[in-house]
Amino acid sequence: MLLQILYITFIFNLRLTLCKEQVVDVKKSLVWGPGLKPDHIVLPARYFFIHAVDESGKKFSSPTNAKFKVQIKGNSPHGKCRSNINIIDRGDGSNIVRYTIGDWCENVEIDVQYNNSHVAQSPYFIRNKVYSERCYCPQELNLWLLNNDCSDFSADKQIAWDLHSFKRVNFSAIRDNLLKRYNAPESISLCHYVVKNQEVWRKCYGKYTGFKMFMDATLSALARVVYLPDMEFYLNLGDWPLSKKGGQQRTSGPYPIFSWCGSDDTYDITLPTYDITESTIENMGRVMLDMLSVQKSEYPWETKEEKAFFRGRDSRRERLQLIDLARKYPDLINASITNFFFFRNEEDKYGPKVPHISFMDFFRYKYQLNIDGAVAAYRLPYLLAGGSLVFKQDSHYYEHFYSKLVAYKHFVPIKRDLSDVIEKITWAKENESRVKEIVSTARAFVEENLMPQHIYCYHMVLFKEWSTRLIAPVDVFPDMEKLNFSHTCTCKEKQLRDEL
Ligand SMILES: *[C@@H]1O[C@H](CO)[C@@H](O)[C@H](O)[C@H]1NC(C)=O
Ligand SMILES: *[C@@H]1O[C@H](CO)[C@@H](O)[C@H](O)[C@H]1NC(C)=O
Ligand SMILES: *[C@@H]1O[C@H](CO)[C@@H](O)[C@H](O)[C@H]1NC(C)=O
Ligand SMILES: *[C@@H]1O[C@H](CO)[C@@H](O)[C@H](O)[C@H]1NC(C)=O
Ligand SMILES: *[C@@H]1O[C@H](CO)[C@@H](O)[C@H](O)[C@H]1NC(C)=O
Repeated sequence: MLLQILYITFIFNLRLTLCKEQVVDVKKSLVWGPGLKPDHIVLPARYFFIHAVDESGKKFSSPTNAKFKVQIKGNSPHGKCRSNINIIDRGDGSNIVRYTIGDWCENVEIDVQYNNSHVAQSPYFIRNKVYSERCYCPQELNLWLLNNDCSDFSADKQIAWDLHSFKRVNFSAIRDNLLKRYNAPESISLCHYVVKNQEVWRKCYGKYTGFKMFMDATLSALARVVYLPDMEFYLNLGDWPLSKKGGQQRTSGPYPIFSWCGSDDTYDITLPTYDITESTIENMGRVMLDMLSVQKSEYPWETKEEKAFFRGRDSRRERLQLIDLARKYPDLINASITNFFFFRNEEDKYGPKVPHISFMDFFRYKYQLNIDGAVAAYRLPYLLAGGSLVFKQDSHYYEHFYSKLVAYKHFVPIKRDLSDVIEKITWAKENESRVKEIVSTARAFVEENLMPQHIYCYHMVLFKEWSTRLIAPVDVFPDMEKLNFSHTCTCKEKQLRDEL
């Protein structure tokens, strides 16, 4: 009897705590991020974060009842400040606010409201004129690095490792040999970039050089906001890193080559991939999927299917092996190939190919499989941001940020031959609370390392460091093509004022 009463009281209390509604305390709620300093931090889309907090100081972990409202006020050459605002609800009581403005605005005020009350320190008054990222308005490099809080990247492990073998680079001495080694038009595509006096020149080698458009756009975007150091580099446009360790090169020393993917057996210097860089530069523009929009919560954890999911091309044997596993364990894995190209003759066995599904729909599933393609799978940043658990295949390929990832903190490792996939999925099913921790740590990692601001920082910290190692004069060659930078306005007026 007593037990029964105790039990009933317990259930009653439990229901009370469950039902007691968490109320947003607007003053205690948090608002932070680079988008609150739009006069100093210029990004394609400015962004900041809001996290709801209740009166006891506890952060929300589920959506708030009402929505946060954001307004950008100010004057522009055409009257009122024109802005485009987009709020991404992360489903955990936090939101990402991103916005763009037309040419420029002054007397800017950013209002963040909840239920008709200002949140945190809102309204935020911006002292200086705010320019669109489309304006040509470069800041001096060191000032830019300071304004953009790039200091975390000045000690970046990957940059240090990559540049370790290139303390002094004399391109006058190695240029001819580098081209002799890598000018192989049928198999290698690379471009020589020269940056001098804020102009960018290039010459490409190889048959398939279309991907140069990504680096062109990157340098063009960076040059609008920061003065680039004079420098030159060779960029590999292909998938596979080029500068092999060991063998012939032991005598001549490695050749410095920039690549979007690195590997343990090469000396290539890694840049953020063209994929994440494009989604940074085209944020709120041409791209549908980027590191901000992917955080939108469409499938709350409780509604997700408890299965591992994979869609992708047949660009590696293990992806086909995964199809075998999915057939054997249909209640654990949902995997299909979207396109057969590399193993076309095995389409009968591993097909039929299935249509692409929206990347956001991957997150209908609790577990995401990151299996290498030709090289590292460039989807990893998005998978880490999406609110599902990532299983990452062991790999000697890496992107610029992998060295900071920790197994069982940010992802669950799986063996290269996938032999432990089933065991690891089973582990995840039995350790839900650990899994949720990993998912939330992965998101925090994304917020600290892979947001647009960080992609900008990584490029500029690397370029600055690189430029100091070049000991031959940086010259434009007569057969180089000059890039045409695009911008829609300039801020000459501001520079004049700053000089006074
Ligand atoms: C909004 O404010 C009103 C009045 O202060 C209050 O009664 C109401 O509960 C609030 N709504 C939310 C969703 O917090
Ligand atoms: C760089 O190499 C060129 C050609 O070998 C040589 O003439 C020059 O002195 C070197 N520069 C430095 C600073 O070592
Ligand atoms: C696998 O996933 C796709 C896409 O979400 C879904 O349409 C399909 O029904 C799933 N298959 C199984 C067997 O659950
Ligand atoms: C995972 O779950 C299993 C079975 O419930 C348990 O024995 C094990 O201790 C858990 N591991 C961790 C790391 O929590
Ligand atoms: C830049 O513009 C000029 C003139 O319109 C054109 O001839 C040249 O090919 C362009 N350069 C590039 C790299 O597109």
